Amino acid sequence: MTLGVNIDHIAVLREARKINDPDPLMALAICAQSGADQITIHLREDRRHIHDEDARRIISASPLPVNLECAIEPSIINIVCSLKPHRATLVPEKREEVTTEGGLDVIGNYNSILNTINLLKENEIEISLFIDPTREAIEASERLGVQWVELHTGSYANLYAMRHSALPHTHHAISALNLSRRELDDKIEQAYGAIVDAANYARSLGLKVAAGHGLNYQNVTPIVNIDTIEELNIGQSIIARSVFTGLSSAVSDMKALCQR
Ligand code: PXP
Repeated sequence: MTLGVNIDHIAVLREARKINDPDPLMALAICAQSGADQITIHLREDRRHIHDEDARRIISASPLPVNLECAIEPSIINIVCSLKPHRATLVPEKREEVTTEGGLDVIGNYNSILNTINLLKENEIEISLFIDPTREAIEASERLGVQWVELHTGSYANLYAMRHSALPHTHHAISALNLSRRELDDKIEQAYGAIVDAANYARSLGLKVAAGHGLNYQNVTPIVNIDTIEELNIGQSIIARSVFTGLSSAVSDMKALCQR
């Protein structure tokens, strides 16, 4: 299983002081030496963490392929086309959200996504769509002609966190707040089943399948066991652990969990 390490949260820490420390660029060699297969970053419209200059430096210096997450927003897509990362992952973006809260509406935004895909293809950038694990989203993605889909694992991860800590991970899970443990187990099973079904279906249509969001050292193993998923993109839990263990151990511990 391939591991993409999302280093946005290093820039989150830097932005807490608006200085140049810690520099996300310093993470590249450590991630590569510790078993990461890819670097993932998200250039958000509000530039709350990664800035244009970070993206430029990371893409030009990275020893690993860079997966640049971005919204379907013309000014951002122009930057992506000029930076030419290995891959662009199209994600939905809301300014008020704490993190990417759901998958792209690939059916509702079909035409604007198609225009964006055409631009990226002209620039020879591999394309992934970050979608909810549903058959409808996968069918639309396949029609859109992308190579990859990344399945949003947030519902599974939030329910898992609630089951094991009795605290919601984010407001995603608020509708499940009053559920009993048994009901939560059923919901985790359903959320997991949806990921398994979506991954198998996407693979059967010839798509490459990645997954991510909210994955951590506790909840990742069942996702690793889905053999139609070939890549995980994980950020927050790795950078959070690195505060205590150092980045090298945090990445290699996660890479060990990603072995099948
Ligand atoms: N994949 C995508 C498409 C994302 O938007 C994010 C969050 O930026 C991640 C993976 C990583 O999520 P997390 O930081 O919760 O591991």
